[in-house]
Amino acid sequence: METYSEKVFEHFNNPRNVGVIYKPHGVGEAGSGECSDYLVVYIKVNGEKVIEDIKFQLRGCAAAIATSSALTEMVRGKHIGEALALTEADIVDYLDGLPEEKIHCSIMGVEALKNAVMNYLDNLRSYW
Ligand code: FES
Repeated sequence: METYSEKVFEHFNNPRNVGVIYKPHGVGEAGSGECSDYLVVYIKVNGEKVIEDIKFQLRGCAAAIATSSALTEMVRGKHIGEALALTEADIVDYLDGLPEEKIHCSIMGVEALKNAVMNYLDNLRSYW
């Protein structure tokens, strides 16, 4: 069995951006089909469509904690278009790899982020 990288351990032990954003511009949720784990992502987006703030709440495993934490660092300060283009492979690369049986844990983050961005865009449309 493969083990976790130093970076995965570091994000698991010190997860970034855990919590809730009060009055977020977008909220996205995702669950893993392979377990009962669940992730919620909150975003604040500025007028240039850049993600200014992002937080997450998770019920999940060590890999899900690390991948969700990494995700928030990867997209903070990025345009929503870049956030929508993010893949689970990008997160796995950022963390210097994940054991094969834990790759699915990174998918929740990508889905929840995309759902948060789509929720933000829906909120914009309904505003106008
Ligand atoms: Fe459920 Fe990792 S085992 S997300």
